[in-house]
Amino acid sequence: MAGMDPAATVAAYLHQHETKGLLRFITCGSVDDGKSTLIGRLLHDTKRLFDDQLAALERDSRRHGTQGQDIDFALLVDGLAAEREQGITIDVAYRFFDTERRKFIVADCPGHEQYTRNMATGASTADLAVVLVDARKGLLTQTRRHSYIVSLLGIRHVVLAVNKMDLVGHDQSVFDDIVAGYRELAAQLGIGHVQAIPLSALRGDNVTANSPAMPWYTGPSLLGHLETVDVRRDAADPGFRLPVQWVCRPDQDFRGFAGTVAAGDVEPGDAVVVLPSGRRTQVARIVTPAGDLPRAGRGQPVVLTLADEVDVSRGDVIAAAAAPPQVADQFAAHLLWMGEQPLLPGRPYWLKIGARTVGAQVTEIKHKVDVNTQAELAAKHLDLNEVAVCNLGLDQPIAFEPYETSRALGGFILIDRQTNATVGAGTLDFALRRAANIHWQPLDVDKAARARSLGQVPRCLWFTGLSGAGKSTVANLLDKRLHAMGRHTYILDGDNVRHGLNKDLGFTAEDRVENIRRVAEVAKLMVDAGLIVLVSFISPFRAERRLARDLFADGEFVEVFVDTPLAVAEQRDVKGLYAKARAGQIKNFTGIDSPYEVPEHPEIHLLADRTDAEAMADAIIAHLNATPTGL
Ligand code: ADX
Repeated sequence: MAGMDPAATVAAYLHQHETKGLLRFITCGSVDDGKSTLIGRLLHDTKRLFDDQLAALERDSRRHGTQGQDIDFALLVDGLAAEREQGITIDVAYRFFDTERRKFIVADCPGHEQYTRNMATGASTADLAVVLVDARKGLLTQTRRHSYIVSLLGIRHVVLAVNKMDLVGHDQSVFDDIVAGYRELAAQLGIGHVQAIPLSALRGDNVTANSPAMPWYTGPSLLGHLETVDVRRDAADPGFRLPVQWVCRPDQDFRGFAGTVAAGDVEPGDAVVVLPSGRRTQVARIVTPAGDLPRAGRGQPVVLTLADEVDVSRGDVIAAAAAPPQVADQFAAHLLWMGEQPLLPGRPYWLKIGARTVGAQVTEIKHKVDVNTQAELAAKHLDLNEVAVCNLGLDQPIAFEPYETSRALGGFILIDRQTNATVGAGTLDFALRRAANIHWQPLDVDKAARARSLGQVPRCLWFTGLSGAGKSTVANLLDKRLHAMGRHTYILDGDNVRHGLNKDLGFTAEDRVENIRRVAEVAKLMVDAGLIVLVSFISPFRAERRLARDLFADGEFVEVFVDTPLAVAEQRDVKGLYAKARAGQIKNFTGIDSPYEVPEHPEIHLLADRTDAEAMADAIIAHLNATPTGL
């Protein structure tokens, strides 16, 4: 650039800077593979460390470092990691650096097993993964697990960084053996592009420049590869898609729909469809603060206005009318479980996909996958870090695309409804056909008509409490009273229903979930038939009592907590089961080695150890009489 006008030089630099591409990648590997050192080295060698950081690093390295007089790059990154552990929790640390040719965002994901969640978070937006392997140790379980997640989340480019080559005498045969093993794994996982690089992050060998220590290696350095690798996806563009993040309504006259274009491009006048509603219209304007755009494409944040006043809400998808995504409410999916508590089929979770959040259940675990061998194993629940192929059912239909086609419309997370923690991440594979082929049959004689002819208000009275708390006693007494008053009732009792409909279920957490799901559905049918249903089940988990409640209309579901302390129930031990449970003859006994989650907001709370049954039945009748509809 010598001799050029300085202003032009600056302009040229800025232009190059603005237009140079961005590569998002993640680093993964086991705890001691040297990830921190590698990232520290990349940041250092690309001059992304400020002078004061560098001075501090040199000082710390001499004081605490493990590398004698040399700089210990791991201190740089691990220092930040330690901060993270002190509670300022950033799950994934994103670092930025750039070179003349490219900008980089690297997601640094902690390598411990319990951090698979962080890895999945980082991987979901990355185009490439650097998988670190210690040359002395070769491929580990963790390498396989991480590679599996990398492939699950759609990353097709891997750099196999065989680190610590200096510790194996820069021996080519060690490298070749590891590479051969990894290529086999990559082929199984469908990872199409693997670049293997022998390096020493500590010595800087093959990190930013090729090292004379390994003349037998003729491929690119790590940075050289990252700067030039082409990660563009060749999948055919499915057409315009805009997941609506936000409805923008500054005044009565303006209604815009904001989001980032997930695929395709859009121009004013284009015919679009709003999903899941299916309403059609055209794009009116593409609005930005700097004026309207004639066109917008993938990755661009936009605000669209539409030609007609159609109803669009947050989470809807605006798509090309000629090639819209599918709409469905049941799916086959891959799921990575990240919850401390196991995933239980039938339990309600929130599913978040794009900008939409809907209620969801895993309706069936097809099989879990052993990430070491790819073997398919039977499973009734999933534990932390397990991966499975499963069926999902949603409360409402959504617009989606298989993850293969679109990460934005095919990648989802599952959220715990009590704690709001992210407990799963997954990919939608395809819609289940049965979803499309079953329709709701409208019936002319409905619940209101049936209730009228029975002359009563249908309800579900849900009794929950420990075994031996007195649920069945109170329910039975109440039933007699209601019957005497001419009400039409039915009792669903745990012990009885388990003799028939639920004969196949035991007392594991997953079986209890299914037990409650079924009986809640039966209770719903009975309420639909106009009855007053008394359900008497331990129903120990909040999530499933909530699931039951959500099946009913407002005021129809009345939760009755029959509250007897464990010690009292155990002392009564009418059926002798507590004694057996204490003796270890019955497993998973509620209150002993299986939890009972106390109701937080029951409509009726009965202190059953100090109230007689008649008085409890009176209290329930009084409660029902006091409701707006009466008994
Ligand atoms: S629930 O937890 O799934 O709601 P449910 O009410 O159907 O339980 O059945 C509980 C009854 O099964 C108890 O009243 C008791 O008689 C019997 N039972 C047998 N084994 C167990 C167990 N491990 N835990 C609790 N109850 C058990």
